Amino acid sequence: MFKGFFTSMIVLLFLQQAVSSPSATTTHLCSDVQKLALFQFKLSLSIEACASTHCDISHPKTMSWTMSSDCCSWDGVTCNQLTGDVIGLDLSCSCLGGSILPNSTLFQLSYLQFLNFRANNISGVLPQGIFHLHNLKQLRVDYNSNLTISLPEVKWESSSSLQILSLSETTFSGGIPDSIGYLNSLSSLSLRKCKFSGLIPRFIGNLTRLTTLDLSSNNFSGPIPDSFANLQNLTYLFLDINNLVGQFPSWVANLRQLVGLDLSDNGLDLSDNSLRGPLPSNLTALQLPQLTALYLSNNSLNGTIPSWLFDLPSLAELSLDHNDFTGQIKEFNSSRSPLRSFSCANNLLNGNIPLSLSTLVNLIDLELSSNNFPGFLDVDMFSHLYTLDLSHNGLSLRITNMTKFNPNLESLGLASCNIKKFPHFIKSLEHLQDLDLSNNLIDGEIPQWIWKDSLNDLDLSHNFLTGGLHHLLQNRLFFLKLQYNTLSGSLPDSICNSSSLEILNLSHNNFTGALPTCSRSLESSLSVLGVLINRISGSLPSTLSNFRMLRSLNLYGNKLEGTVPPSFAKFDHLEVLDLGSNQLNGAFPQWLEYLKNLQVLILKSNKFHGMINNSSKIEHPFPSLRIIDLSDNMFSGPLPAKYIKNFKAMMDGEVNRKERSYMGNSYYSDTIITVIKGVETEYVKILTVFTTIDLSRNKFEGQIPEYIGNLKSLINLNLSQNHLTGHIPSLIGNLLLLESLDFSFNRLTGVIPQQLTSIYTLSRLNLSHNDLSGRIPEGAQFYTFQNDSYAGNLALCGQPLSIKCERETNEMQEEEDEGDDYFFNGFTWEAVVIGYGSGVVLGFVVGYIMFMVGKPKWFMGIIARELGLKVRRLEIKRFA
Ligand SMILES: *[C@@H]1O[C@H](CO)[C@@H](O)[C@H](O)[C@H]1NC(C)=O
Ligand SMILES: *[C@@H]1O[C@H](CO)[C@@H](O)[C@H](O)[C@H]1NC(C)=O
Ligand SMILES: *[C@@H]1O[C@H](CO)[C@@H](O)[C@H](O)[C@H]1NC(C)=O
Ligand SMILES: *[C@@H]1O[C@H](CO)[C@@H](O)[C@H](O)[C@H]1NC(C)=O
Ligand SMILES: *[C@@H]1O[C@H](CO)[C@@H](O)[C@H](O)[C@H]1NC(C)=O
Ligand SMILES: *[C@@H]1O[C@H](CO)[C@@H](O)[C@H](O)[C@H]1NC(C)=O
Ligand SMILES: *[C@@H]1O[C@H](CO)[C@@H](O)[C@H](O)[C@H]1NC(C)=O
Ligand SMILES: *[C@@H]1O[C@H](CO)[C@@H](O)[C@H](O)[C@H]1NC(C)=O
Ligand SMILES: *[C@@H]1O[C@H](CO)[C@@H](O)[C@H](O)[C@H]1NC(C)=O
Ligand SMILES: *[C@@H]1O[C@H](CO)[C@@H](O)[C@H](O)[C@H]1NC(C)=O
Repeated sequence: MFKGFFTSMIVLLFLQQAVSSPSATTTHLCSDVQKLALFQFKLSLSIEACASTHCDISHPKTMSWTMSSDCCSWDGVTCNQLTGDVIGLDLSCSCLGGSILPNSTLFQLSYLQFLNFRANNISGVLPQGIFHLHNLKQLRVDYNSNLTISLPEVKWESSSSLQILSLSETTFSGGIPDSIGYLNSLSSLSLRKCKFSGLIPRFIGNLTRLTTLDLSSNNFSGPIPDSFANLQNLTYLFLDINNLVGQFPSWVANLRQLVGLDLSDNGLDLSDNSLRGPLPSNLTALQLPQLTALYLSNNSLNGTIPSWLFDLPSLAELSLDHNDFTGQIKEFNSSRSPLRSFSCANNLLNGNIPLSLSTLVNLIDLELSSNNFPGFLDVDMFSHLYTLDLSHNGLSLRITNMTKFNPNLESLGLASCNIKKFPHFIKSLEHLQDLDLSNNLIDGEIPQWIWKDSLNDLDLSHNFLTGGLHHLLQNRLFFLKLQYNTLSGSLPDSICNSSSLEILNLSHNNFTGALPTCSRSLESSLSVLGVLINRISGSLPSTLSNFRMLRSLNLYGNKLEGTVPPSFAKFDHLEVLDLGSNQLNGAFPQWLEYLKNLQVLILKSNKFHGMINNSSKIEHPFPSLRIIDLSDNMFSGPLPAKYIKNFKAMMDGEVNRKERSYMGNSYYSDTIITVIKGVETEYVKILTVFTTIDLSRNKFEGQIPEYIGNLKSLINLNLSQNHLTGHIPSLIGNLLLLESLDFSFNRLTGVIPQQLTSIYTLSRLNLSHNDLSGRIPEGAQFYTFQNDSYAGNLALCGQPLSIKCERETNEMQEEEDEGDDYFFNGFTWEAVVIGYGSGVVLGFVVGYIMFMVGKPKWFMGIIARELGLKVRRLEIKRFA
């Protein structure tokens, strides 16, 4: 979007200044000394695969440099036309790797004014020598993520002529040094995504010549320093994606010099922070005459949307998504506003959608989703737009046979709009890329005309669609969501032919027949195949593994038979494999242990049988597994000790403190159906820190291995309904995050280890129907468990049972612990106390209800930006 626009402007600017090499005039060739220095510099770097995502085109410019030609003619080199001195070096997007050493001959080029290494893979520490190039005006080394920058701490006089400093997406050692405050010629400073945290230094407000300041995508916290009020020449201010707090800065009104020659590109981006409170109500249009784009999404701004926003004479883009704005958007004078794009999705707005929005002559994008706009809406009023999202307001739309939309409409969101049949006007939209009709009341078959060549993203989920699915040949379709309908018939073989499809969700339908056997090798991008809860039968085709990019394969709740093919070991990217609730049989598919990314393995409720062979072939089987559910099968023999010993991903007891996120991405959340705390539920989002082992309802026998106590991030452990014998290992007391423990219906003997009382998070305990004896431990959570936790153990005594213990048995169970120090790692009372501090029972999974919440479009943008992807925005195409 306009940030990309801006970048290309700067590049252009640079080229204009730099591309003036005197190819015709041969009088002043570059000096041999400088040529040699450049050539040696070339040799000191390597040429790598041209892979940067920040370049439209990369090509190895230095490849063509030869000592036999004039270095002023070399690709990327600019000379002073009169003297022949090398003044510019533009090696951006040049596929360079390696390090620039402190003794690099680059630093001999003392006439250098423009130096650009943007978007290469230069690594190591950027030598200080670069800051001693006295004539340097522009330094761009951004997008070299392995390059470490350490700015000089001292007053940076030598570079006081520096005007452009771009260090975005490099690695910084140390914070922003004061010395930047002395670079008083600086007009552009880019420190995007440099992992800074703490306060934004006040001294940035000293750089009064700044026209562009980009501090986005860091972790800055606290308020925006009011010293920024000095930055009167600021044209662009990017502070998005930080943790800034405070109110919308009133000094923004003072940036009235916010002048750029190109009025179309001014902007203020404060999105993704924690700004609170209302927007100032008394700003006037006069104060921000040039403001063209205002992004305030993802904050906690509240109050009503002030009307001055619609009076700003230059404002073309306004984004207020994901705030807490309330009340009605009042009618405004639409003739004054040049607004092209307005978004207020995901707020608490109500009242009628103002008619004025429909009379904005320049408006092309409108996003009003996920508010409380009530009642009926005549969609004709917005039929001229290019992007329209009215989803999740509970609106009832008036759509007639006469309704006709702009044939260039690209994105249409009408989820949760009480639509009863496919709106006919969609048929003639040949440029439609995104269509969301989910959560409506549409019945009948999917019309042929919906399969437009232009579609990228089609969501028809949560309707009452019937009939079959025949068409899947679209080469541009990325996401197809048809879950929660009653579609029937077999899965189309054309799944095999679609090279673009990434997410195919057919869950909760009535599909029958076999899975497609895609025999030839595929050019498939399929990353998610969700077919859970259908009636698919037959066996698992071994050719399924030709979908090499699969990240999530969910076939839960079908009628599949046969065994798991060994070819499944080839799913290099697989994170989720859910084959639960089918009729699969055979032995445990040991080859899955090779899947180094597998996090979720669910084989529950099938007919698997036999011993789980412990002689695993590799040293670290299942290195990423966090969720394993083998319950309700006929596995026998000892518990899979080697696996339990090696579940590395379950051993990090600190995991609970880490940032929480859900599996999947903004387009697809992984879903599992599993039993947690005794209740089977479909969990539509899985936190990446959730861990569970469920081996219940099998025929496992023998003892519970002691080292299960190493799985310190385990939250749910269920070994019930097996034939387990021996004691409960006291080391289970190490599982300080455990919330649910079920060992019921086994043949366990001995006492309940006192150590279990140190698990303060335990909210469900079931030890019933064993042969446990002795006193029930007392303390902490144990006061909350009832009789049924212990039923059917005739020799237990003490609270809460009515059986009193006869005498104090001091034969503690510790005698026979094996004394293996490794297992006692960190198990001290201090550790227990710390565990208590963090171990409050938290929702590890978000239940079904969350499912109804709309897909936030803005979020895609954020994610895409985080990933460094190019965000496709309509504005780019039409802005010029
Ligand atoms: C630069 O220093 C490195 C060691 O740090 C050395 O190997 C290399 O030869 C030196 N290069 C020049 C041009 O002096
Ligand atoms: C970038 O350089 C590092 C070494 O510093 C190397 O491991 C990596 O593969 C390189 N990346 C690319 C894309 O060539
Ligand atoms: C940075 O280096 C690491 C390993 O040294 C490499 O994996 C990564 O690809 C490099 N980053 C880039 C952008 O090449
Ligand atoms: C910033 O400006 C203030 C006031 O002019 C001055 O006291 C301070 O030293 C300056 N800081 C830096 C880092 O330039
Ligand atoms: C971000 O900053 C906060 C406090 O300013 C700090 O607690 C947190 O660890 C930082 N996060 C990262 C990822 O650096
Ligand atoms: C701000 O911009 C104006 C117009 O370009 C210029 O005259 C003035 O010197 C600039 N102010 C600063 C502090 O650079
Ligand atoms: C807006 O109102 C506040 C508080 O009433 C006041 O401090 C501020 O100066 C006013 N701003 C303008 C531009 O009138
Ligand atoms: C806005 O949020 C602040 C807290 O950030 C609160 O004190 C204030 O009452 C809210 N105002 C409205 C109108 O909701
Ligand atoms: C709308 O058009 C369809 C066919 O195009 C027709 O069957 C139907 O009767 C029309 N409905 C109205 C209300 O005109
Ligand atoms: C699923 O299809 C079968 C016939 O194949 C039919 O009997 C059944 O009613 C369908 N179920 C639903 C929910 O439509």
